[in-house]
Amino acid sequence: MKPVVDVQRKTAKRSPGNVSPVGIPVARPVLTAAIIIALATLVTPVFADPNAASTFNQRCAGCHTYGKGIRVGPDLKGVTDRRPRSWLLRFIRSSESVIRSGDPVAQALYQTFHRQKMPDHDLSPQQIEDLLDYFEQGGPGRQAADERDASTATLADVEVGRRLFAGAVRLTSGSQACSSCHRAGDTTWIQGGSLGPNLSRTYWEYKDKTITSLLRHPCFPREPEIAHSDYLTPQESFELKAYLRQVSLSQPNVRRPVNREETDKNASLKSNKQVIP
Ligand code: HEC
Ligand code: HEC
Repeated sequence: MKPVVDVQRKTAKRSPGNVSPVGIPVARPVLTAAIIIALATLVTPVFADPNAASTFNQRCAGCHTYGKGIRVGPDLKGVTDRRPRSWLLRFIRSSESVIRSGDPVAQALYQTFHRQKMPDHDLSPQQIEDLLDYFEQGGPGRQAADERDASTATLADVEVGRRLFAGAVRLTSGSQACSSCHRAGDTTWIQGGSLGPNLSRTYWEYKDKTITSLLRHPCFPREPEIAHSDYLTPQESFELKAYLRQVSLSQPNVRRPVNREETDKNASLKSNKQVIP
């Protein structure tokens, strides 16, 4: 962590014109990306509470599937699209009182599934909201964030990955930034460490899945700093993967023919000491 901060200060002195409100020197593309991130956070849903999965398994899955058809009650896949949230909140809490209130949708459901009534649930409004978020994000069929292929990443994901790598954003586990031991891409603007290998081409040397499993464990024994289980969150791992992919794409002679434009871009990047977001 420390070396990164020091370098940021040094760089800040060199180019006082480009200092962000937090004192970190930023190039214009980085600012643009920061704006993209700010926008993206407005539309990206917060990841559902992991307890929602166990609530579903323990209290709903006996009568409902998610995407596997009718069991005792209707399939809950898509339920957050077909019903308003306020209705779902009332219905899950006490389906019986919604049916008795004469609500036409609830009565129709009851007619169709009348062999068994859905019991009332003493779940808190927050627990129900969490369940609904969980349904919205794909329920039990949801892919863990880090299992997504890095090619599906947005520019904003790549930028978060870059910041995590460089230590500009702290890892949730509090563990050291990757850049204290690794370099990747054009690191002239950050001090990449050299204890670990240069990761500029790593993404192409392995498959996406291999990188995913590599990132599930600390790459270097660093006990007792962190427990193995909470090294990176799945989301952080996805973002780092996205960044490593982006970096490797900008390396010359990686897997695909290098066209002239590509080479020129790399050359100008080096001379400007800028980073592609
Ligand atoms: C004992 C069986 C049973 C359990 C357990 C159960 N449900 Fe139901 N659920 C039903 C039935 C039957 C219906 C159809 C309406 C009716 O007859 O009450 C239903 C309907 C629903 C609906 C409306 C679906 C639609 O298409 O509009 C939602 C939402 C729902 N349940 C959510 C849940 C949630 C969330 C849980 C767990 C906290 C749960 N249910 C637990 C039996 C159950
Ligand atoms: C304390 C230093 C240190 C930190 C911090 C660190 N690494 Fe490493 N990393 C290493 C070392 C050393 C190796 C080589 C281990 C080996 O060969 O067994 C390595 C290996 C790797 C590899 C495998 C590279 C290859 O070619 O096989 C990847 C991928 C990797 N690290 C990613 C990361 C990421 C991403 C982060 C940040 C979340 C990170 N590392 C943080 C030291 C570190």
